[in-house]
Amino acid sequence: MNQASTILGIESSCDDTAAAILDNEIILSNITSTQKVHESFGGVVPELASRAHQSSIIPVIDSALKEANMSLQNLSAIAVTQGPGLMGSLMVGINTAKALSMALNVPLIGVNHLQAHVAALYIDNEVEFPLLCLLVSGGHTQLIWVTNFMEMEIIGNSIDDAVGEAFDKAGKLMGLGYPGGPQISKLAENGNPLKFTFPDSQTKNYDFSFSGIKTSLLYFLRDNQLADPDFLSKNVNDICASYEFSLVNMLIKRLEKALKDLNPKSIGIVGGVSANKALRTALNQTALKHNTTSYIPQFQYCTDNAAMIAKAGSYLLRDKKFMEISDTPFARIKS
Ligand code: KG4
Ligand code: ZN
Repeated sequence: MNQASTILGIESSCDDTAAAILDNEIILSNITSTQKVHESFGGVVPELASRAHQSSIIPVIDSALKEANMSLQNLSAIAVTQGPGLMGSLMVGINTAKALSMALNVPLIGVNHLQAHVAALYIDNEVEFPLLCLLVSGGHTQLIWVTNFMEMEIIGNSIDDAVGEAFDKAGKLMGLGYPGGPQISKLAENGNPLKFTFPDSQTKNYDFSFSGIKTSLLYFLRDNQLADPDFLSKNVNDICASYEFSLVNMLIKRLEKALKDLNPKSIGIVGGVSANKALRTALNQTALKHNTTSYIPQFQYCTDNAAMIAKAGSYLLRDKKFMEISDTPFARIKS
């Protein structure tokens, strides 16, 4: 059990400005402001992201405090995403956190965004370790072997695109707007997942690859639209369902291989794509099949959020792993 604490979590690594209050291990507020400015560009524009973070970070922190019925003086630590992410975006969160920590004289905690996605599972679950966790987001696809709360090792990785990108690029190809993941997932609900087939890629061990399936969708659409210009509009639900089905199978296949080899106590999914209903169902079915426990975060803790940053921060606070005022953001994963 962690010591009594009230932690402000701050997240600004990509296009969500977020703040949350974790009070004695209970999330009292979790505020996320998603930047709409990127939609018309079909992807995140880093410079616009930094500017939007700069204008929303203080109002978002204010809302998180207000909803938790707290003031700055109640805080015992500030936890902030230190990386990986967009440098300009990270700087906004980190510099705000540094200023608050100095002004309030409370510890500053730098959190690894990917470890925080895993920590999202600890918010509502008493997780049994070792946990085999699949991290699926817009920037990463990893299989992670978690032996204790913040002790984890990456055992599988995507060798090219992340699965979130495979969703988002498919959304762009089909003109569904950005981000494509939630749109594809919605359209897939009324489609036949077995109507079309998309190929898996050959990868080593527990690694993933999504560039091939993305290219195969591109040629599939091009060839079929040559034959029938209305092909996409007539089949959009079935295409989304079949494409989603293929992606979910690619993920579950690697997870299942690691599950058989390593025999964990539990399995889980985290990150933005863990909001996908087909993937959530597939994970639960896999757990049933192998007689193990499965964990999935609530929807609000799947995509980028600050509750997971505060939660990860609570373990680092317990272990007194603080960030120095001179420490800098890291854009890429530290090796
Ligand atoms: O974790 P996240 O919010 O940001 C990163 O750290 O990257 O993940 C964002 C990704 C996007 O690619 C988005 O399309 C995907 O999560 N996503 C989904 C769903 N909701 C979000 N993908 C498939 N189905 C969903 N329901
Ligand atoms: Zn993320």
